[in-house]
Amino acid sequence: MHDTMEKWMPIAQQHGQSHLFHFWSCLSGDEQQQLAKQIQSIDFPQLAGLFEGSEEAVDWSELANKAQAPDAIRLNDPNVAFSAKDAFHCGEQAIRQGKIGMILVAGGQGTRLGFDQPKGVFQIGPISNRSLFSMHADSLRAATRRYGVSIPMFVMTSPATDAATRDYFAQHRNLGLKEEDLVTFCQGTMPAMDAASGKILLESPSSIALSPDGHGGIVSALDRQGILRSAASRGIEHFFYAQVDNPLVRACDPTLIGYHLLSRSQMTTQVVSKRFAKEKVGNVVSIDGRTHIIEYSDLTDEAAHRTHPDGSLQLWAGNIAIHVLERKFLEHAAQKSDCLPFHRAMKSVPFVDHNGNVVKPAAPNAIKFERFVFDLLPLAERSIVVEGNPADVFAPVKNAEGSATDTPTTTRNALVQQHRQWLEHAGISIEENVKVEINPNWALDADEVRQKIQTPCHIRVDTYFA
Ligand code: UTP
Repeated sequence: MHDTMEKWMPIAQQHGQSHLFHFWSCLSGDEQQQLAKQIQSIDFPQLAGLFEGSEEAVDWSELANKAQAPDAIRLNDPNVAFSAKDAFHCGEQAIRQGKIGMILVAGGQGTRLGFDQPKGVFQIGPISNRSLFSMHADSLRAATRRYGVSIPMFVMTSPATDAATRDYFAQHRNLGLKEEDLVTFCQGTMPAMDAASGKILLESPSSIALSPDGHGGIVSALDRQGILRSAASRGIEHFFYAQVDNPLVRACDPTLIGYHLLSRSQMTTQVVSKRFAKEKVGNVVSIDGRTHIIEYSDLTDEAAHRTHPDGSLQLWAGNIAIHVLERKFLEHAAQKSDCLPFHRAMKSVPFVDHNGNVVKPAAPNAIKFERFVFDLLPLAERSIVVEGNPADVFAPVKNAEGSATDTPTTTRNALVQQHRQWLEHAGISIEENVKVEINPNWALDADEVRQKIQTPCHIRVDTYFA
């Protein structure tokens, strides 16, 4: 351990971080080992650059001025290059051929929801009470059943959710997924820095305050942990990417995959039409022929409010974090350690002070650094944007009950609403205020519901179709 101190102390000192060794002499051997491991994994020059902001000198107003609507397959557009039917069949064929895997990001910290377990364990089924993980696993199993092929699910966890996620899957027999079709891997971390001084914060005398490196951390995690290689050896050519907090997403949606393949896209993004100019979503735009996402907070008012002569928004496309990614494109991206920029966020991060006391700040005191998966978009030479109907594709659980948007209640309502429509189209009438829920293993979509329902009937009580 003495070697660690000798080697790393000067490096830490050179970057103004010698306080990381402040408690060193009071630590046990194991504690020293733990701290040494963390210190060795820090890229001090990179962190210094990030703190100075030199890595994030983006002129958003210039980019916003140049931004145009992205190349998109829009809903109800008669002039689209490929029909939804052709896309559906093309996507189905690729799934049947075993070329598709699913990535589910389930890391992060889920702070806004205020739930002390991994978000994926949160029970969301309106009647079934199935967890978010369970909803995604059911959806994937239904695709497996329909296409007669095994589709692996790659679940990304964070250090905060990893052990509990693995336990949960083990306790629930992998939620019906075959052992070889469930791959769990953990994302990386970044140290949090004191916003005023740039000092790396210590969470305890023997550990650094680390936080997950954002969903964009998936690129290096997939590579580092050999997942891209093993996916290639299974014949997987494309990944369907979804976030654990959106149970409305259809696992491996064939239509989206089909558009991706027909367009020879390297990265495809599903979007919804923004409801108003400054809606709090990432804006999917085209700049100099490449697709980019500009966060709502970075979009200038002028750009946000630009309209066509018919009054519709020019920058209309809102990101909902559903993508299809070519495996080879991810492999290329992973070769460059700096392929994705880091974004800074001000957060309240507890730390130990010089006297060893734990301080719990009431206001944001620290900078956290995160990478975003959508920053891969401008790297793609070929990318396509596909509009979805929000009622069919997007109802995330972000905030605790009582918040104005994206709460467990709004998500449950969206699920009930979608399933109610499927049943009503199949000739079933449902009493007002009665809840219905459909397990995808009973019916995967509105067409399958129609095939199942032989005689019209009336539903008076909450009913779970499973
Ligand atoms: P959010 O940006 O909503 O973050 O993640 P979060 O950690 O879930 O919640 P807050 O912001 O702390 O309240 C969107 C999706 O990306 C995953 C999350 O699991 C969620 O499915 N994610 C986020 C990661 O996998 N890793 C991260 O570092 C961040």
